[in-house]
Amino acid sequence: MPSPPGEGIFFAQVYNCHRLMNGYYFSSKKYRFLPKKECRLSEGKTLLSRLRMVSMKTWIIIGVVMALGLLSFSRKPADRFVVPAGWPKPAYNFKKNPLDPQKVEMGKRLFNETLLSRDNTISCNSCHAQYTAFAHTDHSLSHGIEGKIGPRNSPALMNLAWSNSFMWDGSVTQLDLQAQKPITNPLEMDETMEHVVAKLKATSNYPDLFFRAFGDSLITVDMIMQSLSQFMLTLVSANARYDRVMNGADTFTKREANGYALFKQDCAACHKEPLFTNGQFENNGLAVDESLADGGRVKITHNAGDSLKFKVPTLRNIEVTYPYMHDGRFRNLQMVLFQYSEHVQQSSTLSVHLQKKLMLTEQNKGDIILFLKTLTDEEFLKNKKFEFVNN
Ligand code: HEC
Ligand code: HEC
Repeated sequence: MPSPPGEGIFFAQVYNCHRLMNGYYFSSKKYRFLPKKECRLSEGKTLLSRLRMVSMKTWIIIGVVMALGLLSFSRKPADRFVVPAGWPKPAYNFKKNPLDPQKVEMGKRLFNETLLSRDNTISCNSCHAQYTAFAHTDHSLSHGIEGKIGPRNSPALMNLAWSNSFMWDGSVTQLDLQAQKPITNPLEMDETMEHVVAKLKATSNYPDLFFRAFGDSLITVDMIMQSLSQFMLTLVSANARYDRVMNGADTFTKREANGYALFKQDCAACHKEPLFTNGQFENNGLAVDESLADGGRVKITHNAGDSLKFKVPTLRNIEVTYPYMHDGRFRNLQMVLFQYSEHVQQSSTLSVHLQKKLMLTEQNKGDIILFLKTLTDEEFLKNKKFEFVNN
């Protein structure tokens, strides 16, 4: 720090000085420190001198407030994944692939992109459409490339962030790896990942879009998978009438309330609230379809104890995701309830929760169905956020 000029020297001239924060006097005209007696103080006159008078402490406080303001501005609201009140912690590791609006948008675009299939006709959306909660209405078994029919029903896609296993038999354990299955499946999209990358690179828009989302126009398989995950993770359904009743904002009718009580007694051990799945593999007593001979989970674990076990699906939006079960064998909920009430097949792997015959009356079955319909989430089914508009 410069030292003040010595006292006692006489200068005829008097200059305009500023009193600095450290107590010295400075003349901007002479551009040097002056003793107080040579100064005509101009404090408080100019904006600059006023600013200089503000104490260091105040400057620090102003600095901190501005920094916080800037921080809160740079945090985009869509960056955060919102866990609905009372729901468990998601299984997905968001640290590895933090949600980003540009990447979510890219995922939505790719989800609707037919270039992902060999003959450029099939997109993920072909088998997973929003108005049916991303299931495939009316198709018991999935229809893929060239009308080829797969061995299983397209499941509805929602609340995937809470899942540890994907596909009816849990053959996929990470959402980020899931999309490679349909893309490379000869009965679905029948394409190779390398060729998908090459096709996207050759377009006029994708390199630029990838650059905006990832800061790199070099398109990779990982970027494609991460983007698709990002979009699928945003598919959260948590605002059905059921949820509003649970939050105290609505009430069940008498029949729905009876259906709910029966549901908790007979179904909730597997279709556990609030996700309506316990995330396990269970044998719910379906008769084996000899033509498909699908053993389910046993195909993955090769453990005979897993024979005929399938992933317990969520029942949210069940009203619109027909046909039902891994092979889409039931067209409507009446048939499902008839199955659980009267047709559960005994076998060595049948779940303990279904050993006792349910014997539901017609009225009881109807009430359970009325309750299941309270799981329809209109906001989810019609949410414009999930719709892809090419622009
Ligand atoms: C030809 C129809 C078809 C296409 C196209 C398709 N899927 Fe699927 N999807 C299915 C079927 C059928 C299953 C169940 C497969 C199984 O269990 O073996 C499934 C399962 C899934 C699952 C697992 C859901 C769960 O809860 O276990 C996810 C996630 C998924 N698909 C996402 C996608 C994505 C992303 C794409 C595009 C890259 C896509 N699908 C393309 C039919 C399709
Ligand atoms: C032992 C566990 C268990 C119990 C108890 C159980 N379920 Fe299920 N549920 C499953 C499994 C597993 C599936 C899938 C089976 C398959 O596709 O092979 C399923 C499928 C369903 C489906 C079709 C879902 C879809 O997306 O296709 C509906 C609807 C359903 N269950 C309703 C009920 C109702 C209502 C009850 C009570 C009366 C009930 N479940 C009791 C395990 C169970």
